[in-house]
Amino acid sequence: MTTLTDSVAPETKSTHEAPSPVLEVVDLTIRYGGVEKIHPTSFTIGTRERVAIVGESGSGKSSIANALGGFIPPGVGEVAATTMSLSGRSLLDLPAKRIPDRRQGISMIFQDAMSSLDPIWSVGSQLMAVLPKGRYGSRKERAAAAEERLEQVGIVDPRRVMSSVPGQLSGGMRQRVMMAIALASEPELLIADEPTSALDASLAVSVMELMTGLTVANGASLVFITHDIALARRFADKVLVMQKGEVVETVAARDLDHARHPYTRGLLQCMPTLSSAQLDRLPTLDTVMTEEPAA
Ligand SMILES: Nc1ncnc2c1ncn2[C@@H]1O[C@H](COP(=O)(O)OP(=O)(O)OP(=O)(O)O)[C@@H](O)[C@H]1O
Ligand SMILES: [Mg+2]
Repeated sequence: MTTLTDSVAPETKSTHEAPSPVLEVVDLTIRYGGVEKIHPTSFTIGTRERVAIVGESGSGKSSIANALGGFIPPGVGEVAATTMSLSGRSLLDLPAKRIPDRRQGISMIFQDAMSSLDPIWSVGSQLMAVLPKGRYGSRKERAAAAEERLEQVGIVDPRRVMSSVPGQLSGGMRQRVMMAIALASEPELLIADEPTSALDASLAVSVMELMTGLTVANGASLVFITHDIALARRFADKVLVMQKGEVVETVAARDLDHARHPYTRGLLQCMPTLSSAQLDRLPTLDTVMTEEPAA
């Protein structure tokens, strides 16, 4: 079996001891209009592992998430890999008739819950539609299970929310509903693409606490994309750092301060701190990258 540490150059070696892999990706490439935007990329994600993907805008974070989730149809881009498998099941080259099933085991949450939820269906009907089939005998049991799922994501009045349409809820509530829907199908892997960037800082932290807590409690692994390296440090076990279509460093979150790649160190230096708040200008990635010599 090829692991990240086997398949990357020595300077990008992981400092993180991963649990047994649930997701294995070897030499994933993504092309749009014939242009390679994700260069051969390999990584693994372990059972119950929480992985953050960070990197500047356009570095390829969403492309990787969308490729894993099956959101890059052939007309949009070409996804190729030596291996891309979830619990040993290949996510590549499945016959067309199996497309609705191909991402079984993976759920996704996006930045804007409103664009992922159906605006005219009630929350209850959208949630009940994704509960595991055949488990609940009656509609009443299904509705009770859906209410329970809403309670788990911190919704205190689940009955009202069940009968609401998404537009009647606040942004934070919608993101909680998205989380309940994403977890209702009992995925092995939850992928969240900037799940908190539309929320204010304190709400972002409580949504992250909930998401990491629930995925681990459900025995699922989590990949979350963020521009906020402080959230990555706090909520991830492992951080993949992307730059220009490549994973340039994989580092245990607890070792972020010892990150070796200049780009990762640049990202860390761009984090506002109490002392930088007194500077006339905050450092930018361009300034710190040019000031810091390559490791
Ligand atoms: N559907 C698409 N068609 C053409 N090019 C695309 C498409 N999606 C992404 N790209 C290109 O692929 C590269 C990576 O984009 P991607 O959206 O994956 O980056 P990102 O790291 O998620 O950025 P951001 O932080 O802004 O969300 C960019 O050059 C982008 O223009
Ligand atoms: Mg993105």
